[in-house]
Amino acid sequence: MEASEVNNSFYETYGDRWYTAYDDPIALLRAENKVKFPWIVQHLNTHLAADAKVLDIGCGGGFLSNELARVGFRVTGVDLSRESLKVAEAYDATHSVKYEVADAFHLPYPDNSFDAVTAMDFLEHVEHPDKVIKEFARVLRPGGLFFFHTFNRNPLSWLVVIKFVEWLVKNTPKNMHVLRLFIRPQELEKFCHSAGMRVLQMTGLRPVFSSISLKSLFTGVVPEKMRFTLTGSRMISYLGVAMKR
Ligand SMILES: C[S@@+](CC[C@H](N)C(=O)[O-])C[C@H]1O[C@@H](n2cnc3c(N)ncnc32)[C@H](O)[C@@H]1O
Repeated sequence: MEASEVNNSFYETYGDRWYTAYDDPIALLRAENKVKFPWIVQHLNTHLAADAKVLDIGCGGGFLSNELARVGFRVTGVDLSRESLKVAEAYDATHSVKYEVADAFHLPYPDNSFDAVTAMDFLEHVEHPDKVIKEFARVLRPGGLFFFHTFNRNPLSWLVVIKFVEWLVKNTPKNMHVLRLFIRPQELEKFCHSAGMRVLQMTGLRPVFSSISLKSLFTGVVPEKMRFTLTGSRMISYLGVAMKR
């Protein structure tokens, strides 16, 4: 178990590699987004209007923001990494997403100004997820939805999410993830509750093991065919949605 700081500085250096690299764990985020995006859209369509206003926090290269804009949502994407935002903007086929530099702890938006807030692979990158979740609840209107994806904190997730990725994927930055910042589902549920939100659903997310051939395991490259799937177990990572009361 380490007490290290999480490394958030390397996102500035990706450039187009956000969208093109396979010799890097960023390829895993791209593959995960193929499952997260339809799951989120399904919930947005169930609860909100077709042109709902969505704020994507820590949007990075814009994988989710750009897809949400493509299907008609009004999207704002914020991140601390100016360089990542430039890439996100360049890959926005709709030219409609508002990309802005902002710190998730101090969002430059009025209370109740969004219908939904998304934070994918974000909460385990900050020191005080409880505080940041309160800030998300502030900008969310009553009845609005908060979507999250993060990692559970236990020895298995340490092995799979931190160690396997370090050992098997080239160019994995040191301290890309640190175990102490992973969040147990019950903790996240409490943070949402304290922020005035009720968790509606949480589901596990895991790789499809048959999409990773044994040969490709030792190449240091994420196979183009690699896929993720939803699963009942939240042991490793989980995707969820909460509603502001
Ligand atoms: C693992 S990446 C996730 C990117 C994107 N959400 C995705 O799933 O592809 C985490 C992102 O959070 C951003 N970040 C970290 N701390 C932040 C903060 N306090 N405010 C805004 N963005 C932050 C990083 O710059 C990085 O782009």
